[in-house]
Amino acid sequence: MKENFKKAACLSAFILSCISVYCQDINHSFKPGLLWPDNEGRNINAHGGGIIFFNDTYYWFGEYRLTRSEKDKSHYGVSCYSSKDLLNWKNEGLVMKVTNDTASILNPGCIIERPKVIYNKKTGKFVMWFHHELKGEGYKAALTGVAVSDNITGPYKYIRSFRPDAGFWPLNFPDEYKRSTIKESDLKSGSDEWKRAVKEGLYVRRDFEKGQMARDMTLFIDKDGKAYHVHASEENMTLHFSELTDDYLNFTGRYIRVLPGESNEAPAIFLSKGSYFMFTSGTTGWKPNAARLAVAGKIFGEWKSVGNPCRGTEDEIKITFGSQSTQILPVQGKKNVFIYMGDRWIPDNLSDSRHIWLPVEWEQGKPVIRWYPNWNLSKLK
Ligand code: GAL
Repeated sequence: MKENFKKAACLSAFILSCISVYCQDINHSFKPGLLWPDNEGRNINAHGGGIIFFNDTYYWFGEYRLTRSEKDKSHYGVSCYSSKDLLNWKNEGLVMKVTNDTASILNPGCIIERPKVIYNKKTGKFVMWFHHELKGEGYKAALTGVAVSDNITGPYKYIRSFRPDAGFWPLNFPDEYKRSTIKESDLKSGSDEWKRAVKEGLYVRRDFEKGQMARDMTLFIDKDGKAYHVHASEENMTLHFSELTDDYLNFTGRYIRVLPGESNEAPAIFLSKGSYFMFTSGTTGWKPNAARLAVAGKIFGEWKSVGNPCRGTEDEIKITFGSQSTQILPVQGKKNVFIYMGDRWIPDNLSDSRHIWLPVEWEQGKPVIRWYPNWNLSKLK
């Protein structure tokens, strides 16, 4: 009798410990579009973000958007979460915050979007770049900001914000475009002449001295360790791929224009089996539109558009399942396996915006995404 009691007690202790381990891992599958609780039970507040893998852990950086109850704008900045399994995320707090220093342009009221972090093997530093707009100026400034840290979870020391590639022509810019004297004031915005002039570098010339515009952005490290800052430039009409210096803290001045005049933003780049792929969106602000896929044999192009990578109903496809791309994440320990990460923006309460993660599938050598309301990593072969 006593033995049986002991056995039963042991068994219940075992079951209880299993339940408690299971309960710590609160998320067991990806449920795109639903609230995604972190270790404290709050929706993961890291939007327009990106993930890097370091020391066997994934780190997710993103826009920390003030929640409805937070009136104090000094909490605004870049958040970080860590995870071993991509499903359960620990809040590591704000790794770069706006400052109350009145002399700084990183002040409450400025806009910080799409932060991305990369690790520089040579310097041992973590480098963050982000789209930065100035307080009270909407999206006019079109700056990129840079910050650096010795530790992945920060704090990141803000260095400066600026327009890239001032005084440099794109590598794929014909001499006749450099010499053209056509100006913005000569053209009616939206007209065929204007469209042609934009393709032929109207805004590159306009911004040659003060630096090129940089809005939606991402970072990409190539096989040889060179890093690229990819951003929507030229009034969001053309993407620029700009090479970073070896320490990743500045631009070298070597850059190319990609898909001129085609209005792409939200770029997300990955390399698979020797081909470079890029997901982008069109430019409809917070409203979702149809995703686009482009392919290249090397990072500095030729990039070719190859259509919409979404598969599903017409309604799903024309709005990318209600999302906008932010990163295509390589899954560690698996070859050529990726996850599409997108944002479903909720403009009047951005902190509540939803994460749309979907498995990348392949169709005739090209990546495609389909809607799965509930899926896990076993879906990824
Ligand atoms: C989107 C962009 C977002 C944000 C938004 C503001 O097009 O991708 O990052 O800038 O516009 O309207």
